[in-house]
Amino acid sequence: MIEIEARLDELEQLGLARRTRLVSGPQGPRVVLDGKPVLLLCSNNYLGLADHPAVREAAADAAMRWGVGSGASRLVSGTMTIHRRLEERLASFERRQAALLFGSGYLANVGVVSSLARAGDVVFSDELNHASIVDGCRLSRADVFIYEHGDVEHLEWGLREADGRGALIVTDGVFSMDGDVAPLPELVDLAQRYDVRLVVDEAHGTGTLGPGGRGAVADAGVEDEVDVIVGTLGKALGSYGAYVACDLQMARYLTNAARALIYSTAPAPPAVAGALAALSLLEEQPRRVEKLQANAALLRSELAGQGFEVSGGACTPIVPLVLGDAAVALRTCEKALERGVFAQAIRPPTVPSGTSRLRLTVMASHSKSELRDAARALAQAAKAAGVQPEELHPPQAQHVAESAPVAGAAVVAGRRAPRDARHAALWDDGEGDLWVERRRPAAAAGGAASGASRGAQDGAGQPPFDAETDGPPPPRAGRTAAQAQGIFDVEAPGTLVEHAA
Ligand SMILES: Cc1ncc(COP(=O)(O)O)c(C=O)c1O
Repeated sequence: MIEIEARLDELEQLGLARRTRLVSGPQGPRVVLDGKPVLLLCSNNYLGLADHPAVREAAADAAMRWGVGSGASRLVSGTMTIHRRLEERLASFERRQAALLFGSGYLANVGVVSSLARAGDVVFSDELNHASIVDGCRLSRADVFIYEHGDVEHLEWGLREADGRGALIVTDGVFSMDGDVAPLPELVDLAQRYDVRLVVDEAHGTGTLGPGGRGAVADAGVEDEVDVIVGTLGKALGSYGAYVACDLQMARYLTNAARALIYSTAPAPPAVAGALAALSLLEEQPRRVEKLQANAALLRSELAGQGFEVSGGACTPIVPLVLGDAAVALRTCEKALERGVFAQAIRPPTVPSGTSRLRLTVMASHSKSELRDAARALAQAAKAAGVQPEELHPPQAQHVAESAPVAGAAVVAGRRAPRDARHAALWDDGEGDLWVERRRPAAAAGGAASGASRGAQDGAGQPPFDAETDGPPPPRAGRTAAQAQGIFDVEAPGTLVEHAA
């Protein structure tokens, strides 16, 4: 049994304890936070639509017309005309045959990934994918090959080694904590060459990138080549919920297979109507996306002017200021709050150990002067927290610079295991909870060397999947029902690479 008090104490000591802060009033560019007015620089309300009058009004009207709740799952009595209307509009927005609403992005990812892979298959997942994708992988009971962030060479190596067992590649389109964009054309090419499906999570791409704000996939011109796009309604579209855009057959399949859709209450009518109104605004006013991108560029250049080295996608609204240590990130967050800027500190397991950060997010509704002032305030906050902006390095640089993996992380066939804390059990305490693998003695002898050991050793007699032992874990005497489903079993046999659960 989990010792709750001890675990909470441990989190406090590690500087990883979390608490919620209270926002009064709607989510706008400025909010009252714990009683104090601040500039909000960490919301995903990218286009400023969550508090837009037309969106609010549509939600209020829908509550009067359709009521507040949908009453049941989509598959029981929950599918209402307003759901169908939004699905049609989203399908046409995404230029796909069909769209299917889910309760949230978390549910959509869990539902899609666990429906498209099963025990014995291999899912290929970027090391920095969102936790909902990680959980979908776990629930699928498939083996999971976690490729190094955006590294198509590593991915191809894994696809080769999987020897026909590959089911799908899954990636964030825009990475939620780093703001960079997945190498989508290359992923499409690999998916086609190795005959696996491609799922792209556009949670942070929809409304922020691409023609008409249609996302990273549209921006890369590969809309027709991606099997499933997951989009969310709770970020740029200012509401709550999510959708999957795909072809008709896939939509039919997910309606029958995605447990997160089947066994969860349909989205609430006010949220659906709010998203419909937001979608109309996005389509009618594409300049909102341009304003967002201009604001993101402005914040980046203002931060650079303050001495910060800023990474992430050149035009995505997510700007990470990587501070390294969790305590430093927390301190900087507090110092920024004292200066009227709210930029939440993001720590493991949301980001890998040693890359705690302030994750800044820009909104189209921020003014230029607000962003200039924020950059100045952040530089002062960093200094007050004992950090010089010039000494900080963006995540990509840190990936390369850091040669040793976190303690206990294993090397799989000569490659370092990804340092992604999101693939950890509950949180990364640096004790090596990260990674479950069944190493052969020869590989184990290599030790947890470093990320440098690539290329020559790749696949050199150490395939990641053991043809003899792979396959669904056999039932074991004494396993609980949950363990038998592979949900909590961190020692499921037959897998060389598997997400710790
Ligand atoms: C990349 C990504 N996917 C999925 C989700 C989950 O979406 P939702 O908040 O709608 O559950 C998030 C949300 O934080 C995300 O960042």
